[in-house]
Amino acid sequence: MEIRLPGPALVLALLAIPASAREEGDSDAHAARIEARMTDEERFQLLHSHLPITIAPGKPAQLIPGMPIAPGVVRPIERVGFQGLAKTDASLGVVNPFGLREGDVATALPSALALAASFDPALAFRAGAMIGGEAQAKGFNVLLGPGVNLARDPRAGRNFEYLGEDPLLAGVLGGEMSRGIQSRGVVATIKHLVMNDQETLRRTMDARIDEAALRESDLLAFEIGIERGRPGAVMCAYNRVNGPWSCGSDWLLNQVLKGDWGYKGWVMSDWGAVHDVSYFNAGLDQHSGAELDEKVWFDAPLQAEYAAGRVSKERLSDAVRRILRSLHAVGAGWKPGEPRSDIDYAANAEVAREVAAAGIVLLKNDGALPLSGDAKSVLVVGGYAVAGVIAGGGSSQVTPVGGPAAILPTSVHPLVKRPAGQLIVPSSPVAALKKNLPQHTISYDPGYDAGMAAARAARADAVIVFATKWESEGWDSSDLSLPQGQDALIAAVAKANRNTIVVLETGNPVAMPWLADVRAVVEAWYPGQQGGAAIADVLSGALNPSGRLPMTFPASIGQNPRPQLTGFGEPDSMRAARLPVEYTEGADVGYRWFARKKLQPLFPFGHGLSYTRFTHSGLKIKDGDSVTASFEVKNAGERQGADVPQLYLVKASGRDVQRLAGFQRLALKPGERRRITLEIEPRILADWTTEGWRIRGGVYGFALGKSADDLGPTVTVTLAERRVKP
Ligand code: BGC
Repeated sequence: MEIRLPGPALVLALLAIPASAREEGDSDAHAARIEARMTDEERFQLLHSHLPITIAPGKPAQLIPGMPIAPGVVRPIERVGFQGLAKTDASLGVVNPFGLREGDVATALPSALALAASFDPALAFRAGAMIGGEAQAKGFNVLLGPGVNLARDPRAGRNFEYLGEDPLLAGVLGGEMSRGIQSRGVVATIKHLVMNDQETLRRTMDARIDEAALRESDLLAFEIGIERGRPGAVMCAYNRVNGPWSCGSDWLLNQVLKGDWGYKGWVMSDWGAVHDVSYFNAGLDQHSGAELDEKVWFDAPLQAEYAAGRVSKERLSDAVRRILRSLHAVGAGWKPGEPRSDIDYAANAEVAREVAAAGIVLLKNDGALPLSGDAKSVLVVGGYAVAGVIAGGGSSQVTPVGGPAAILPTSVHPLVKRPAGQLIVPSSPVAALKKNLPQHTISYDPGYDAGMAAARAARADAVIVFATKWESEGWDSSDLSLPQGQDALIAAVAKANRNTIVVLETGNPVAMPWLADVRAVVEAWYPGQQGGAAIADVLSGALNPSGRLPMTFPASIGQNPRPQLTGFGEPDSMRAARLPVEYTEGADVGYRWFARKKLQPLFPFGHGLSYTRFTHSGLKIKDGDSVTASFEVKNAGERQGADVPQLYLVKASGRDVQRLAGFQRLALKPGERRRITLEIEPRILADWTTEGWRIRGGVYGFALGKSADDLGPTVTVTLAERRVKP
C-alpha cells in the first residue's frame, strides 16, 4: 500500500491542533509519520538539549538563533515540521535564569507547599494553567515542573518546590498541575524521578530503600501524578537509587516507568545528571543541559554506539517518537522562541493570591486572631515585612512582576551580572495591614536589635513578628531553628508583650521554642507576589484561614528517622564516591512514621485552624466496583469558611496503619451541611507484592480526621482479597 506523507503545511497544521481534539492513537501515528521522514542525523538532534547560558570560563554559551536564553533548547528541523523545544523552569512560575533575559518578569506563585496546603486539586489545575499560559505567551513549549518528590526530611532544601509528604496528596495535585500546564499547549515535566529527597550530595547520594516501600511512597506519587496528568515528559533525578543513577537505571526507566506504568512520553535527564552513554539503552531519551556533563553523551558518543550496533535503530526511533508524540498529544508542537502574546498579569495575580489565601495555615490561635479593634497600635517586627515576602532559592526562583523588592546576595557567579540570593518579593505585609486596618496605627521595627524590638513591643497593643527562613535548591538546613537569632528575637518580644503573634515564612517546618509564650502562629510558607495581602487578610479577618499542613512539624529533629543528615557538610562533586542514605522508614514517611513510632509532633500533618468550627459525622464505607466513603460535614460556627476533612485508613487487613485515603476541600456557610462521597484510591488500600498491587482480604478500618492526630471513630469494612491494576 502506498503511504502518502503529509506535506509541510499539513504537518504544521496537525501539530497546531489542540490536544483535546485528538485521539491517543493519532499521536502515535503522527509521531511515527514524522520520525520516519527524519535522517539519523536529525534524530540525534532531538536527543540532547543545549544550555545557551555561559556556565564556565572557556565554555561559551551556544546561542541558537530564534531561541531564548533558557535552561534547555533543541533546534528545530523545519523540513519535517519539528519546530524545536524551548524548556523553562518551573513549578512556581516562569523563571528568568540568573536574570539573563533582561527585564523579563513573571507571576510568582507561593511555594508548592502552600499549594499542597490547600488540598485543592482544582486550584492546582488553575495554578498549572496560569504558569503554562505564561510559558506559552513567552514562547516556551516545555515546562520543567511539577515536582512531586516526597518531603522525607524537614531540612531538605527543595521541599518548598514539592507537594508535601503524602503520595496521594502529591500525586493528585501534581497530576492536576500537569493537566493545567498542558491545557495551555505546553508540555509538563514531572520531576525528579526518584528519591531526590535531600539536596546534600544530591549528585552522589544513593537512596537505599526496599522496592515495595518505594513503590508505595515516592513512586506512587509519580504513578498517580502521571496517570492523572499525563505529563508529556518525566525528568529523572541526580541521585542514585539502590545502586544505579536514576537517569541510567534500567529498572526505574524501562521496567517501572515505561513497562509497568506504560508511560508513553519522554524521559529527560536533570541538568548535569548523565555520566555515561549507556543511559540511553537504560531508558533515558533526552540528555538535558548537555554542556554541563563531561561529554555531550547523546551526540557523538551515542552516534558511535549506534554505528557500532550497540544501540538499535528501534530504540533510536522510539526515543524520537516519544518526544514527537508528547508534542502532538499536548498540542505543544508550535514554534517556540519568540514571545507570542501579551500576558494579563492582573488576572494571573489573582491566581497567586488564591493559592496564598488557600495555603496559609493557622497553627495556633488562643483568640488573638483575627486582630480585634482593641489592638489599636500594632508593631510589626522583622522579616523584611516592610518591603515584601521572601522566596525560596534555586532554579524555581521567579523574578516577580514589578521586579524584586531586593536581592540579598548569598552568592555571586563570576560570569553572571546579577548576584544570586534571597529574593524579596514586592508584596509588603505592612502596607497591606495598613490598608486592611485603617483605624489602627501600624509601625515597623526591623528586628535587627532584639532589645530595641522588645522595648518598642512593650508600648504596643499587639505585636506581629515576621520570621523568615530562606531555603534553596542545592543545600539543606542543619536543623529546625530559625536562623540569625530570630528565635531569641521572638522570645524577647513575647516577654515584653504577651499579645504577640508570629507569622512564619519558611520552606519547611521549624521548631518553636517560644510557642507557649505567643498567642497565635501563622505558617505563610513563601507566599508569592500576593503574599503580603493574603497574610494581612488572615490577620485582619478579611479571610478565614483554611490551609492544612502537608508536612508534619516535628517537636525535634530527634523524632526524624535520620536525626543526622547523611553527608551534611561534605563537598558535592559530580563523580565522588557513592554516599548511601538508608531510608529505613520505607513507605512510612512523615505522619506515617510518627504513627508507627507513636511520636507526638509539634503540629501534625493535616492540621490547620479556622475562625469557624466544623463537625464531621456519619462516616459510611461501601465496597463495590471501588471502595467509597461518605460522610457529612457541617459548618457549626458563625463564619463562612473552608474545611478539609481527611479520610485515613487506620487498619489494613487487621494491621494498624495510617494512610491518607482521601480528602476534600469544601467551602461552607455558617450552619451549612453537606454530604461528601469519596472514591478511595485502591493502591492506598493495597500493598506492593511480587505480583503487583494486592488488597489483602480482611478487615479495613477508616476514620475521619481533622488532622493525622485528631481522628473520629473507626468504621470498618471487610474486603475480599483482590488485585489492583498493575
Ligand atoms: C534542577 C531542575 C531544573 C534544571 C533546569 C536542575 O538543577 O534540579 O529541577 O529543572 O536544573 O534549570
